[in-house]
Formats: sequence, structure tokens, C-alpha cells
Amino acid sequence: MKRILAPSILSADFKVLGEQMQLCADGGAEYLHFDVMDGMFVPNISFGIPVLECVKGFAGMVMDVHLMIQDPIRYVDKFCDAGADIVNVHYEACGDLQAVLDKIHGRGRKAGITIKPATPVEVLVPYLDQAELFLIMSVEPGLGGQAFIPSSLDKIRTLRALLEKRGLHADLEVDGGVYHSNVREVLDAGANVIVSGSSVFRGDILENVSGFMEIFKEY
Ligand code: DX5
Ligand code: ZN
Repeated sequence: MKRILAPSILSADFKVLGEQMQLCADGGAEYLHFDVMDGMFVPNISFGIPVLECVKGFAGMVMDVHLMIQDPIRYVDKFCDAGADIVNVHYEACGDLQAVLDKIHGRGRKAGITIKPATPVEVLVPYLDQAELFLIMSVEPGLGGQAFIPSSLDKIRTLRALLEKRGLHADLEVDGGVYHSNVREVLDAGANVIVSGSSVFRGDILENVSGFMEIFKEY
């Protein structure tokens, strides 16, 4: 299974966003993780549709949109129109999750289901064959730069086992507090898509991204 880096532009310097995204692409990152916050589902507000329209398709990167918004069904069409390739919605934010997944698939996009640290992976069981990607939050959503919650590793292991038992090869993405120092544990547990904000955008971006790529080669 391919290992992919998804830099979260939440931690980028927006004055020079294009240059920083180019460094991510040059280093080998294939996804761009796009954190949308509504001030309701999470306390913060980040950025949204006009910014996605501006960065979509940049350097051929896959736009991995993480919607931290209440009732995301209201905005699926708008984010698809704006350039989302993967639409991640929170299990906790959806009234009718199946309807949201159907809407994303109806637009020909990949659907991701995201769970917060306190949500058990077992809630995903009815949806294992309904999404192309599952995102396990390893910090409380809403803020970059937090510490990885160690119990996330068990959740990753459990989810990968549940998928394998059914012969499913969905992507398993992990978001929050992942650094060069702990990414092997996350990969060993069964994740294959790594979101990284601080550990890419703090310091030398090209070096940081290349460091992740070197580690991915071990797998
Ligand atoms: C948190 C976001 C994350 C975050 C990751 O709500 O979903 O994508 O920016 O940042 P780091 O890697 O700094 O924990
Ligand atoms: Zn995210």
C-alpha cells in the first residue's frame, strides 16, 4: 500500500502560500490537506471555498478537504465545485451520514469519514465499504501544533484489521501531532496517509517533506 504525505496548509505562511506548496510538491507530497473550520463544530474559523478555488489542482496535487463543519451536506456541492478531490466529513457532524456519502459519490469524488479522538472506530463498521478513506484524528480537531494522542495507535490498528478482514483497501489517514519522530509508529499501526502541519511548515519545508519521504521508503 502506498504511503502518502498530506501537508496541512493550516500551518503554512499565507503570504507565500504558493511557494510553500511548491516546496511540498518538490519534496514528493502528493496530497494537499485543506482544513476547513466553521466556528461551530470546532471553535476556530479557518478558510474555505475561495481559497480552495485558488489552490485547486496546484502542481497536480490531490485536494484532500477536511470539513470540520456542522451538517457538511449543505456544502458538499460547493466544495466539489471549488476543486475538492477527496471530501472528508466528520461522523459526529452528520445527521444522515449515508446521505452525505451518497452526495459526495454522486459528484464523482472520493468520500472520507473522519472521527474525533473520543469516537470509537466501531461506529465506522456499517460504512466500511462506503468510503474510500477513513481519517482518524490523533488530536482534538480545531488547532494545529498539538501533541499526538497515543491511544490513536490502537484505533488505527483496529480499523486496519476491520478493513482487512473484509478485503477492503481503503486509505487510512491520520491527522494531528505526527512528526518524523513518531510517524513510523503510525505507519506500523496501519495508516498510509499522513497529515502533517507543523512538522512540514516549521523550519525547512523541503527538508521536512523529504525526511518523511525517506521514512516512507522503508515501507
Ligand atoms: C486540526 C487539523 C490538522 C492540523 C494538523 O484540526 O485537522 O490538520 O492542522 O496539524 P499538526 O500536524 O501541526 O498537528
Ligand atoms: Zn485536518
